[in-house]
Order: sequence, then structure tokens, then C-alpha cells
Amino acid sequence: MTSLAGKSVLLIVGGGIAAYKVHELVRLLKTRGAGVRIILTKAAEQFVTPLSLASLSGERVYTSLFSLTDEVEMGHIQLSRAADLLVVAPATADLMAKMANGLADDLASTALLATDKPVLIAPAMNVRMWRHPATQRNVDILRRDGINIVGPNDGEMACGEFGPGRMAEPGEIVSSIIAMLTPRAQPLVGKKVVITAGPTREPIDPVRYISNHSSGKQGYALARAAMELGAETILISGPVSLPIPPGVQMMPVETAREMLETCESEMPADIAIFTAAVADWRVAVDSPEKLKKAGGAPPSLTLTENPDILATISRSANRPQIVVGFAAETEHVTEHAAQKLKSKGCDLIIANDVSKETGVFGGDRNTVHLVSATGVEDWPSMSKDEVAGKLMERLAHMLAPQHKVPK
Ligand code: PMT
Repeated sequence: MTSLAGKSVLLIVGGGIAAYKVHELVRLLKTRGAGVRIILTKAAEQFVTPLSLASLSGERVYTSLFSLTDEVEMGHIQLSRAADLLVVAPATADLMAKMANGLADDLASTALLATDKPVLIAPAMNVRMWRHPATQRNVDILRRDGINIVGPNDGEMACGEFGPGRMAEPGEIVSSIIAMLTPRAQPLVGKKVVITAGPTREPIDPVRYISNHSSGKQGYALARAAMELGAETILISGPVSLPIPPGVQMMPVETAREMLETCESEMPADIAIFTAAVADWRVAVDSPEKLKKAGGAPPSLTLTENPDILATISRSANRPQIVVGFAAETEHVTEHAAQKLKSKGCDLIIANDVSKETGVFGGDRNTVHLVSATGVEDWPSMSKDEVAGKLMERLAHMLAPQHKVPK
């Protein structure tokens, strides 16, 4: 059983029927040695009592922002900062809306706004409330803000309806807490990793652009993996709709030229990984005004080549110790990748087949081939997170002092 000894969790209980499950959650956390402080919202007090939770946690339970005794004992700011992790369970639609909009009108929402610690929420609500566009908008905002979410699960609800909305089980919440709080080996502490991700957008006119199907998933997975290994992680991303991984420094860009400029400004770095699907061409002169259908022949667009970011950084005076490119191919995958390894001057190329039927663009899985000067290594089909974890471990090993990168 993974111990949580020495870890402290601030559990914020929202007002929903699922609040009854927090007794078991507190018990499981205490069994693993975690310290648990608890805040109840006003609504939560209708479902569980401070007394029962104080008995289980062995700590006093906080309920009011304006309690003189609470503020003297432990101010609301300190309450949120003294914890290693804030857990909101159940996270009601109302509490999530407050979090997404930065409202702070009670102790729970104030602690959540004042914290500088990671936050995990376990949503629970009626299926229609969960599916409502307002809730889904808030979920997107919270994800983008780096909030971790466990559940909700599918199932029958207290209200008799069926679907997603049931709070994750206490055991699942504890697993997510363990994943967030248990340190792994961090061989990249003190190292800087720069990652490009997503597509670039090359304007044709103010409303149209040239782009591609990259979702950013592979690049964002790499950024998460680099963070987990302790690296200072810079993610230079074209327009995608993914949450920014917690702790990662995000630099949004649109065009290939902006991406190059941002990459150059982030050098020197120890490792650079070029996952972005950069548009090879842009319109030579983009129109300042929307191109009009004048009734005649459609306009011809003259294209010009974009700078090659990977090749430029590989050959720069500030070249990172390890430079990794990706190769998106639809035929002769490893042969083309091997040519790119040479022509772009990088240390490794991760080749993947992006033919439509592979579902790699935008999908959650990838089958990659690691191409280096010494040969080709075929990796089995994995989730993009697994590819990222395995690749970052490999790069961390290559960066270790006894290892020389083969040229
Ligand atoms: O984003 P996802 O939906 O998760 O999909 C992942 C992915 C398919 C985008 C990713 O795995 C991938 O293959 N990325 C590389 C996409 C690409 O542009 O490949 P390429 O073979 O055209 O380019 C080779 C390398 O040169 C790439 O590292 C690319 O970033 C880089 N390049 C290309 C052109 C250019 N002008 N500048 C570059 O730096």
C-alpha cells in the first residue's frame, strides 16, 4: 500500500448527495498516513456534519470564512497553502462554476482561489447538469487552468436518472491523489526542455488560413512527461484546445515564423523536441482584407517556403545537447525519417505513420519508430502518454553524463 505519510490534504466538501462518500475517502486517506483538513460548504452541512468528519479526520472542520476563532487558529490563506493538495469532493456544478470564474464568497471558494497548490476535483451532479453547456464550459476552463479531474462515472443517480454524473469512488479518488503526491525519480531536475506542439496557422487573409490536423496531444503528453521528470518545461504551441499541463510554461504561437522566433528566444536548452506539425508553406503575401468572391476565376495563391525550425535550431550556435524531430509520413515511413535525420541535423527522429486510417492525427494512440544514426527501433502501439513517458526516460538517460549522443 502506497504511504501518504507526511502528506497533507485539504478536502473541500461540496453540497451534494455524494458527500456521504467523503467519510470513506477520509478513512482511506488516514489509513495511508495522510493528514486531512476539511472545509464544508454551507450546502455540504446539509448532507454531512462537521462532527462526523472531525471524528474521522482527527482535526477540526472549517465551515465559515468569517469565523473569528477559525481565522485566529488558521487563516483561510494558510489553510489552503499548508496543504500539499486540495481535493474538492463532491465538486458540485455550483462550486465548479465559482472556481472557473474566480468567485470567492465563502471559505471553500476563497481557499481555492488563494491556493498555490495542485487541485483535484471529483465532480458529482445530475447527468443533465453535467452535460449542460455551461458546466462543460466550466470544465474546459478548469482543465485549462491546470485543475485535475477524476470522474464523474456513469451510473444510476440518486435522482433516478442514468449517465455520467456519479462521483468517482473514494478508492479512485485516492489513486488520483497518490499519482499526484507520490514523487518519482526526477532525473531532469535543473534541465531545460523545449517542446513544440500542435499545428501552425498561416494566414491567407484575416479570416482564412492554411493549417493541418495536429491536435497537440503528442506534444502536450511530452510536456507532461518532461515535467514529471523534473524538467523546466517550455511548451511552444500552435492553436489547439488542450489544457495547459500543470507547471509547464506555455508560449502560444500561430505561424511557423512565430514558432521559430519563440524557439530561438528559449535557447539555450538541454533538450528540444519538435512535435509540431509546422506548415511547410505559407502564402507569399497574405491579404490585409478578406478576399472577395468577385464572380470571376478563384484567386491563385502563391506559396513560399516557411523556415525549417528543427533544422535551424539543430544547426544554431545555441544547439541543445539533444535535438529530437518527429516525422509525419504516409509511406516509406522509416526511410523518409532517416533522410530527415540527416537533412535536419537532429539526434533522433520519431517517425509515425499519419495515414488517415492510423488515426494518429488527433487520436490518443501512436505507433512510433525511433530512428537514430545507429538504426531503427520499432515501438509497439501505445497511448501518446506512454510514448511520451518512454521517450522522455530515454532522453533523460542520454543526457546523463556517462552517455554520449551518437552522431
Ligand atoms: O498533434 P497530434 O494530433 O497528437 O499528432 C501528433 C503528430 C502526428 C503531429 C506528431 O506525432 C508528429 O508527427 N509531428 C511532426 C509533424 C511534422 O510536421 O512532421 P514533418 O515530417 O513534416 O516534419 C519533420 C520535422 O521537422 C518535425 O519535427 C517538424 O516539427 C519539423 N519541421 C517541419 C517543417 C518546418 N517548417 N519546420 C520544422 O521544424
